[in-house]
Amino acid sequence: MLSVPVLLSVIGLSRAADPATDADEGAGYVQGGAQTCLLCHKDQHALGILQTPHFTSGDPRSPGEQHACQSCHGPASAHVANPLQVKPLVFGTQSTTPVDQQNTVCLGCHESGERNDWHASSHAGAGLACTSCHDIHDPHQAVLSRATQAGVCFDCHLDKRQAFRRRSHHPLEEGLVSCPDCHNPHGGFGQLRADAINDTCFLCHAEKRGPFLWEHPPVADSCTNCHDPHGSVQPTLLQQRPPFLCQQCHSNNYHPGTLYSGTGLPDAVPANKLLAGGCINCHSQVHGSNHPSGNFLTR
Ligand code: HEC
Ligand code: HEC
Ligand code: HEC
Ligand code: HEC
Ligand code: HEC
Ligand code: HEC
Ligand code: HEC
Ligand code: HEC
Ligand code: HEC
Ligand code: HEC
Repeated sequence: MLSVPVLLSVIGLSRAADPATDADEGAGYVQGGAQTCLLCHKDQHALGILQTPHFTSGDPRSPGEQHACQSCHGPASAHVANPLQVKPLVFGTQSTTPVDQQNTVCLGCHESGERNDWHASSHAGAGLACTSCHDIHDPHQAVLSRATQAGVCFDCHLDKRQAFRRRSHHPLEEGLVSCPDCHNPHGGFGQLRADAINDTCFLCHAEKRGPFLWEHPPVADSCTNCHDPHGSVQPTLLQQRPPFLCQQCHSNNYHPGTLYSGTGLPDAVPANKLLAGGCINCHSQVHGSNHPSGNFLTR
């Protein structure tokens, strides 16, 4: 760990960044910039923030160029005068400061782009703080790195860890997809990347978009009619195995649905059309067909 003066000179704050004015002082800000706080808060966690984009020297949007630590922790002269009695703004769901008020500090600089819809998101509705996922003082926050971000989500969405370990799964642990590829954890419809489920899938599976001469209505409706986007015990992320998958919607009273012989079920009869593999042996174009005579999705 570098010493405070060395760190400060590395990041260009050796001039004792002190943007505070008399008016700021009136508002309860203490002078001396980050250095004042670092006199007492020299532990690795506190210092870590100096190495993050929040202390980018020369960027006027950066807290480091505004009220430094107090851009987030609020005016702290009372705290500095009496640290054991008065706390500055403390973050985290354990804090006595309401989560909304904490998030407002962050949104003051970040309420645009991905976070436009934060207030309407399920995460905001469930009372999550920005700090439920972001470890702001850590220069290598887990949630921003593809290798580690899913672990942050799994802390609360344990069922998804299991889903991604099923026999068929999107290759998350293999490092080829990650939760934010499909989700915007800050908001939007279903906290998805696109405005609809299918549009999210088309980001990577564009060939399934069509248009098709012969559409299969459940595909245009939602990929999740047949697929579990996270993982499934059935092959190809399927919710169920054909023929049962298909027979949720298609009658099993006659072809297509005649039961295989040998199923042991009461009405099972020898069927002339059903081969062991089931419906997609013949209806291979289940997502839609562009063949002139593909109206039965067989080619
Ligand atoms: C004179 C020493 C001193 C200075 C200067 C100082 N602090 Fe503190 N600070 C403390 C002490 C001691 C505590 C622990 C209080 C407690 O545990 O109740 C503390 C607690 C905190 C906490 C809350 C930690 C928690 O989990 O409850 C924050 C945040 C904080 N300080 C930020 C700042 C900031 C920002 C500045 C600069 C504006 C600053 N401090 C300046 C001594 C200081
Ligand atoms: C961009 C906003 C932001 C800035 C700037 C900032 N902090 Fe923090 N600080 C946080 C958040 C959020 C937490 C809650 C824990 C976390 O996410 O790491 C925190 C936690 C703390 C704590 C609580 C004790 C702990 O270790 O968890 C202390 C002390 C602290 N900050 C001191 C400082 C000091 C000193 C500075 C300036 C060098 C500073 N902070 C700058 C956002 C900020
Ligand atoms: C005074 C303005 C300001 C405040 C307050 C602020 N930020 Fe930032 N934040 C920035 C700037 C500027 C950047 C750098 C953005 C860039 O380079 O595009 C940044 C970057 C980030 C990043 C990306 C960091 C990285 O390592 O790439 C995250 C995440 C973030 N902020 C979250 C937060 C959270 C959470 C809070 C509240 C605890 C907060 N910010 C408070 C201005 C602010
Ligand atoms: C449920 C977890 C979660 C919560 C809660 C959360 N974030 Fe994020 N945040 C992420 C993830 C994941 C990324 C990385 C996104 C990516 O890789 O595309 C991110 C990225 C960011 C970034 C940097 C990327 C960019 O868009 O420039 C900022 C800034 C940010 N978040 C701010 C916030 C703020 C402010 C809040 C609170 C209002 C917040 N976040 C709440 C998970 C979260
Ligand atoms: C601190 C706990 C927590 C963390 C961490 C967390 N979530 Fe959530 N998430 C929730 C809660 C609570 C809900 C709302 C209740 C529910 O539907 O389970 C939710 C809902 C969701 C939803 C459903 C959105 C909707 O509108 O239907 C998605 C998608 C989601 N989270 C994705 C993520 C991703 C991706 C991450 C990691 C970047 C993440 N979550 C991290 C607690 C968390
Ligand atoms: C390939 C895209 C994709 C990936 C990757 C993905 N999701 Fe999802 N997720 C979806 C879709 C699509 C839905 C909506 C499902 C629906 O409404 O039927 C969804 C729904 C959710 C929901 C809310 C409904 C439910 O099933 O509980 C949560 C929570 C969630 N995802 C968390 C996560 C987490 C955590 C990760 C990463 C570990 C992740 N997702 C990765 C596409 C994805
Ligand atoms: C970020 C890119 C991305 C997005 C978005 C995405 N996928 Fe995938 N998908 C992949 C990758 C990578 C594979 C693995 C391809 C391979 O193994 O050749 C895959 C494989 C699949 C498979 C085949 C799985 C198997 O076991 O053969 C299905 C089915 C699938 N995705 C459906 C979907 C659905 C439905 C959505 C929308 C909810 C979606 N995907 C969104 C990247 C994505
Ligand atoms: C009516 C049920 C159904 C719907 C709806 C559906 N699929 Fe499929 N999908 C299947 C079946 C069945 C297979 C397996 C085909 C096989 O094994 O030959 C499959 C296989 C796949 C595969 C892997 C093999 C390939 O063809 O590339 C991908 C990727 C895929 N689907 C994506 C999607 C996307 C994206 C959507 C939404 C636009 C979607 N599916 C909607 C039934 C469906
Ligand atoms: C969620 C409901 C649903 C599921 C699941 C489903 N389908 Fe369909 N399918 C439909 C609807 C609706 C139509 C359009 C019927 C019409 O136009 O009369 C259709 C049409 C078809 C057609 C063309 C029939 C025609 O008369 O044009 C075939 C073939 C077909 N489906 C096969 C399958 C197969 C094979 C599966 C399983 C992999 C399957 N379907 C799963 C709802 C479903
Ligand atoms: C041996 C090949 C074969 C298998 C296996 C097969 N089909 Fe068909 N299916 C056809 C052909 C060919 C047609 C065109 C019309 C016809 O000849 O009856 C058809 C027509 C259909 C139709 C549209 C006509 C109608 O009667 O509504 C649907 C829906 C259908 N099949 C669904 C299914 C489902 C669901 C399964 C699995 C349970 C299945 N098929 C298995 C070959 C097959």
